[in-house]
Parts: sequence; structure tokens; C-alpha cells
Amino acid sequence: MKAIVHTKYGPPEVLQLKEVEKPAPKDSEVLIKVHATTVSRTDCGFRSAEYFISRFFSGSLKPKYQTLGCEFAGVIEEVGKDVTSFKIGDKVFGYNDSKFGAHAEYMTLAENEAITKIPGNLSLEEAAPITEGAHYALCDIRAAKVISGQNVMIYGATGAISSAAVQLVKYFGANVTAVCSTQNVELVKSLGADVVVDYTKQDFTKIDQTFDFVFDAVGKTSFGRSKPLLKDKGIYISTELGKNAENIFLALITPLFGGKKVLFPIPSISKEDIIFLKSLVEAGKFKPVIDRRYKLEQIVEAARYVETGQKTGSVVIIVVQ
Ligand SMILES: NC(=O)c1ccc[n+]([C@@H]2O[C@H](COP(=O)([O-])OP(=O)(O)OC[C@H]3O[C@@H](n4cnc5c(N)ncnc54)[C@H](OP(=O)(O)O)[C@@H]3O)[C@@H](O)[C@H]2O)c1
Repeated sequence: MKAIVHTKYGPPEVLQLKEVEKPAPKDSEVLIKVHATTVSRTDCGFRSAEYFISRFFSGSLKPKYQTLGCEFAGVIEEVGKDVTSFKIGDKVFGYNDSKFGAHAEYMTLAENEAITKIPGNLSLEEAAPITEGAHYALCDIRAAKVISGQNVMIYGATGAISSAAVQLVKYFGANVTAVCSTQNVELVKSLGADVVVDYTKQDFTKIDQTFDFVFDAVGKTSFGRSKPLLKDKGIYISTELGKNAENIFLALITPLFGGKKVLFPIPSISKEDIIFLKSLVEAGKFKPVIDRRYKLEQIVEAARYVETGQKTGSVVIIVVQ
């Protein structure tokens, strides 16, 4: 089968299209014919090993898992003998960042992992980007214990994480003030934001409101800048480590004082989470935002684009045309 392989850490150019052996499902696994996947910031982070810490999970000197791709949507082609919840022909989507493998024509996954049938109202191509940004957003929203009626600021509202966060925070009943650039104001309003601040025209720190939660979902601001916007016990979370990894340090220190604090939740995803996300898609409460689409053979170009930090939502890779 065709797969994108990287045998060393580095820039997008380390990704190569190769012929590799088609995987065979174990007794508890399914074999998925991948129709669509994404190139996400997670894939790029593990490929570049920009943060050395990622090597503890992915191999210290060279990548343990040489085919990336954590999000997928496809069709079950084989089932292991112990599999009970899927059958051949089921259309499925899901997420796996422990062994990756979706940048290929086929991948295997255990049936009890983060995989479920696609929402009835989406195509395989539309279902592929449901999970990456949304599960990070969900994890951070849960950590901040967002409840109905609260005020939440989402800084940088047009990435994969933040475009999901706007929709999820609205689902939990809180008021959203979203910060984005001029070209994305209408998109962000359409996602449900109550107030949109254009950061090219207005300093977001000068707005006349305070927040229970400031979510820097593109890692471009800081606790220091956001602090005046927080209520007395307000919470700041960033998707990045911050300058000199300050967000880790602040997450250890600030909760000790009982006032405004930084949290740095460790992301995770379960089967229950993706079933929950699927239910939101089916209820019309969440729809992943898709930017560009590329073919599998164009993955280097796709990764370069993702690494500009300017994508809107997710970049989808079409594996089966
Ligand atoms: N290391 C990892 O494994 C990992 C995994 C996942 C995510 N992350 C981090 O999480 C963050 C979000 O990732 P993502 O994939 O959701 O989105 P992303 O690709 O980083 O975000 C792109 C969006 O950010 C907006 N943006 C760029 N500069 C901005 C600024 N100064 N202020 C406000 N918005 C700005 C852009 O819109 P405009 O240009 O119109 O503003 C664009 O729509 C990134 O920092 C990423 O590194 C890391």
C-alpha cells in the first residue's frame, strides 16, 4: 500500500511517499481503508520534534512510528475475530496519537480505542477533521469547568482547536468573546461567537469586560497580558508552553495562591469523547472547519502550509479520490 513515511525528525521534506506492507488486524482490531485524514499541528509537532519532550513518546533519536496521521475517516475492510462493535463496510472516523498511521491507504486500530461510526450528516471527508482540535478544546474547557452563563474569551478563534472551542463553549451555554483577524470575523460569528474582536483593529486587552476563562487557543498571548481581563478567580489556559515554558511553571505556582490562575491540562481522548463529539455534530452543535484539501502525494506542501500558523480550521488530505 502507499504510505507517507519519515525515518528521521525534521522539516516537511523528510516526508516521503513509499510502498509499504499493508497492516493486518489483530484479533481485537479493525482494518480501515483510509479515505481522508488531516495534517495537523500534532502531526507536525511529532515530525519536527520541535519540542524535545515529544521524543519521550515518539523515540529519542528517530521516530518510532514512521507514518503519522492521527485523524482519519474511512471504511472497515476487515475485522479481527474478537471484534463485536464493527462490521465490514462500516464508515468510521477517529483519532490515534499513540501510534498514528492515518497517512496511508490502510491502518489498524483496536475497536475499544477512539473510533466510532461517522455522523449520518457528514461525508468521510468532512468527518476526518472532527477530533484533533475538538478533543484538545474539550479537554481545556473541562479543566476550566466552563458552565452556563460564564464569560469566556477565545484568543485566536480560527485554528482547529479554537474554531472547535467557540462551538463547544457555546454548547456548554457560556458567552463567547472571540479574537481573530478581519478576514475571519464573519466565519467566527457563524460559529456562534457573541462578540468578535478584530485583533488587527483593536487591542484585545483593552475591552471593557472580564472573563471566567481566557483560552489562548493559538498560543500567541500570555498570562501576563491576559491577567487584567480575568475575574478574581479566572483561569488562563494556553495551547503552547509559552516563553521559556512559563505556562508549565505558572500552572504549578498560580493555583497555590487562590486567585487568578494558569492551568496546563494534559490532553487525552476516549471512545466516549468521540461519541460525544459525534452526537454534537449530529445535533448541529459542532461542525469542523475545513481549510484546504490536498492529495496524499501533496503531503509535504500540506505540512508546509500547516506550519505557516495561518490555516483556518483543519487541512484535509484526500487519500481515496
Ligand atoms: N505540539 C503539538 O503537538 C501541538 C498539537 C496541537 C496544537 N498545538 C498548538 O496549538 C495551537 C493551535 O493549533 P491549531 O492547529 O488549532 O491552530 P493553528 O494552525 O496554530 O492556528 C491558525 C490560526 O491562528 C490564527 N492566528 C495566527 N496568529 C494569530 C494571532 N497573533 N492572534 C490571533 N490569531 C492568530 C490564524 O488566523 P489569522 O492569521 O487570521 O489570525 C489561523 O487561523 C498552535 O500553537 C499549535 O502549535 C501543538
